[in-house]
Amino acid sequence: MKITIIGAGNVGYHLALALQQNKHQILQIFSRNENRFEVFPDTLAAKGVTSWAKIHLESDLYIIAVSDQAIAEVSEKLKQIGVKGIVVHTSGATSMETLQQHQRYGIFYPLQSFSQSKAVDWKSVPFCIDGNEEAIKNELYTLAQNLSPITHLINDQQRQALHVAAVFVNNFTNHLLSLGEEICRDFEVPFNILQPLIRETFEKVQLVSPKNAQTGPALRGDKPTIQKHLDLLQNFPDKQVLYRLISKSIAKGKNS
Ligand SMILES: NC(=O)c1ccc[n+]([C@@H]2O[C@H](COP(=O)([O-])OP(=O)(O)OC[C@H]3O[C@@H](n4cnc5c(N)ncnc54)[C@H](OP(=O)(O)O)[C@@H]3O)[C@@H](O)[C@H]2O)c1
Repeated sequence: MKITIIGAGNVGYHLALALQQNKHQILQIFSRNENRFEVFPDTLAAKGVTSWAKIHLESDLYIIAVSDQAIAEVSEKLKQIGVKGIVVHTSGATSMETLQQHQRYGIFYPLQSFSQSKAVDWKSVPFCIDGNEEAIKNELYTLAQNLSPITHLINDQQRQALHVAAVFVNNFTNHLLSLGEEICRDFEVPFNILQPLIRETFEKVQLVSPKNAQTGPALRGDKPTIQKHLDLLQNFPDKQVLYRLISKSIAKGKNS
């Protein structure tokens, strides 16, 4: 497949490498900023372009991998220059209909956290695929399967719900770990004493539902312990607020 990638950030960079490795021809990678191409390895045959006027029109697929807020604007640019291939974006939170000015469009969303500096194990990255026609869904599904066996057809609302769930399981969880680290620092205990518990937390939910894995004072309704914890956090009102809110949610979840 001939592919053009718009955006040379975390996702654009890794997709370019992976798709080329799977024998696709990356014709061009667009970025507004020439410096972005400096980190690209020499093995990447794609040409970096910084001008919309230089975008070739013969690609079968245009992958928009830019910041969510810029997807509509970039989609419009591709329409103006007259691309005919399938146009997709890689965002979990943006509706597929943002691309509806194109005749053939869809979604190519890799559900993982990417950083340019960290290699990607594509075989373990789930792909969420959608398209405005059955044939496009099939084409994108096949392309995603070249990279990963974990490929799903997911509609717009489901994908956006998955993105919300991903914020809970990844971003919020990581933030809570970070608050735990701060508490350890404030009370001068080494955070790494908690590492086995952190590992166990994530290993357990591979085997049982998180709801069934829940433990702790909030689940037990242990009010004296909860009060002791809140007293200990008396100088950290933001942490007290979160502690109360999450404890309430755990207690409520027990009966739902
Ligand atoms: N990173 C992740 O973990 C991840 C995972 C799954 C999906 N996604 C999705 O993939 C997409 C790209 O994310 P990313 O992490 O690769 O972002 P990123 O590293 O921040 O890169 C964003 C790219 O968008 C370009 N851009 C921003 N505004 C633009 C505009 N108005 N016109 C043209 N280009 C513009 C930037 O170009 P300049 O260099 O010129 O600023 C940059 O190359 C997003 O939709 C994101 O939601 C990200």
